[in-house]
Amino acid sequence: MIEERNSQEAAHQRCIKAACRETYGLKERLYVCRRCGGLLDVETSFAALGNASALRALWQTRLASFDVKDRSGVWRYRELLPFAETVSVVSLAEGNTPLYEAPRAAEYCDLPALKLKHQGCNPTGSFKDTGMTTAVTQAVIVGARAVICASTGNTSASLAAYAARANLACAILVPQGQVSSAKLAQSLDYGARVLEIEGNFDTAMRVVRELSEDESIYLVNSINPFRIEGQKTVAAELLQQLDWQVPDHLVVPGGNLGNSSALGKGFWELRELGLIDRLPEISVVQAEGAAPFEQFFAQHDKAALDEDVPQDFVPIEHPATLATAIKIGAPVSWEKAWRAIHWTNGRVLSVSEQQIADAKAIIGRDGIGCEPASATTVAGIRQLVQQGKIRAGESVVAVLTGHILKDPDYVMNYHRETLDFEDSSGERKGIHGTFANQPIRVKADIQSIMQVLDQLGEVR
Ligand code: F0G
Repeated sequence: MIEERNSQEAAHQRCIKAACRETYGLKERLYVCRRCGGLLDVETSFAALGNASALRALWQTRLASFDVKDRSGVWRYRELLPFAETVSVVSLAEGNTPLYEAPRAAEYCDLPALKLKHQGCNPTGSFKDTGMTTAVTQAVIVGARAVICASTGNTSASLAAYAARANLACAILVPQGQVSSAKLAQSLDYGARVLEIEGNFDTAMRVVRELSEDESIYLVNSINPFRIEGQKTVAAELLQQLDWQVPDHLVVPGGNLGNSSALGKGFWELRELGLIDRLPEISVVQAEGAAPFEQFFAQHDKAALDEDVPQDFVPIEHPATLATAIKIGAPVSWEKAWRAIHWTNGRVLSVSEQQIADAKAIIGRDGIGCEPASATTVAGIRQLVQQGKIRAGESVVAVLTGHILKDPDYVMNYHRETLDFEDSSGERKGIHGTFANQPIRVKADIQSIMQVLDQLGEVR
């Protein structure tokens, strides 16, 4: 029997710092602890939820329902969320993303099998929607007049859409000239005020944090714990698709580090609830030129994981990567992501621009498109297999975070062999189109076309 939760009383916000742990009500509009500046968690009491098999059965039943909340791949798992059953939700039927077998990507990684959870199949084309539905719902609950975020393009596109659904004023701050036009186009079409600022994502993040000190402006970057709440439900959806068999490895890209934080929390809570009895190892993959978390992880060996979280995190001043979604030097959620790595005995690694580009093309050959940041996962898995950290018999899921159409220029440049990359020292390097598939110019007559087709042979 599943008890209905009638209020938000069974939950609160709490500082994650072990030495503080200050609590706040759910409706308090703050993003970090007032006492110590630590990040906040939403903590929900699951005491009244009943047993694991009843929850599984309930979630299974909802798959056949047309109710707005049941159609959402986030609100379907609402027992995990800190909202009253009666809440009116701001939803675009997010989640419900496919879990694909990817045989060519598996072969590329030297694995017998590999699954890709494609979060790019969300309504605005990225995983951000799963957190935006809860964050914008919370914005309405707290009576925000305007919502705001800093973004490398996907958070802003997602926020713009959900703000439009909720009829809230919306402003987004993006680094000028560093966001793909596809992502900007979305935000414009959804009616957000698009503010292009000088500087990079980290500058924009600093500015929106200052702006949100004004209570009427609600910040929905992943520093907002209500974002994390929505994003954590991806763990439940994935496990349901896997018939509750926990994969050995879950591999995600790392930028601002909200996603890895959320997935860690999601799996942790599902184990607390008895829905699973172990956790997947979470590996976070960064781009080599924007890898402050990888550098931090490398400096603190595994033994340190059992002690207090080290505080000597060093941001990177000039992050550089063609995977613009994760071009971030000062990730706000590093401490929560560190916790996720700790909980799951995971790791952090980085991959080169060439490796990202080739992995992306290989994912494409499975008929699955993704944006460059997402391809860090397959490049990272290949590296982990080579290092013996993932073994052939183990089950592996990579999370693809954004859709291929988010950055078509990158794709065209790779296949035309015109992709190049300027690193943080200003040096330009060409990216080789290892799996390039160039467009072919041909006369519009049957004979010429047949001649080309004859010469093609096997594309692969
Ligand atoms: N992949 C994509 C496609 C992203 O857009 C992002 C982040 C990430 C991975 C990294 O996720 O930040 O949770 O570690 N994009 C943010 C944005 C920063 O503004 O759209 P993370």
